[in-house]
Amino acid sequence: MNIIITKDQAEMSREGAKIFLDVIRNDPYAVLGLATGTTPLGLYAQLAEDRRRNGTSYRNIRTVNLDEYIGLGAEDEQSYVYFMRHNLFRYLDIPLENTHLPNGKAEDLSAECARYNALLDTLPRTVQLLGIGSNGHIAFNEPGTPFGSETHVVTLAESTVRDNSRLFARQENVPRRALTMGLKNIMEAEKIVVLASGAGKANAVSSMVRGVVTEAVPASILQRHPNCTLIADKEAASLI
Ligand code: GLP
Repeated sequence: MNIIITKDQAEMSREGAKIFLDVIRNDPYAVLGLATGTTPLGLYAQLAEDRRRNGTSYRNIRTVNLDEYIGLGAEDEQSYVYFMRHNLFRYLDIPLENTHLPNGKAEDLSAECARYNALLDTLPRTVQLLGIGSNGHIAFNEPGTPFGSETHVVTLAESTVRDNSRLFARQENVPRRALTMGLKNIMEAEKIVVLASGAGKANAVSSMVRGVVTEAVPASILQRHPNCTLIADKEAASLI
């Protein structure tokens, strides 16, 4: 794994944006694997700023997101589809039909998983962006998820519900279930960029980078990826 340690979160975001912009400028038809959470917000702001200043085009870019809460749709401010439209897509010239997320409102969840897997087969990711959960999860692949997993329904770990409750008015409102790309889907990306910021991620980051490769730490699978770069600020990297 390549490791870039930055002085702060802003520099982490700039370094991550450089890699993404390089991909987008070299390949106007690139497929971007995108993530939600607070960590990628600075990188998305950089892409929006670059679009405003330099007019980089996203007309032919396609995006696929990692995950979505079950029961939430585009009209819910806490949904990941809302997050992506609000924090990134509205600043780009990307047609919304080129942007894909699992449908949290699907009636038949196993059919939705099959649909998303089939879609991923047609959209091999040029680059995949990831954050990391404090328990070592990536996307919503919680500890214990098989490395061979594809898109599936998950029940979130209690610690994840607690971590994510800061974004909801009340902890009871945090959805307990989600649809997520599996670890196998994530590993198919040609290139992976993991962002991590803050002391709360230090344990998870050190297990990901230096620990045993085990399903107990889903992010540890990234040690097996041939082109994975971790960009961590110095707090998140403090235990490496
Ligand atoms: C959620 C998302 C993950 C994300 C994680 C960390 O669980 N499903 O993709 O990496 O949160 O979020 P944050 O960046 O807010 O710490």
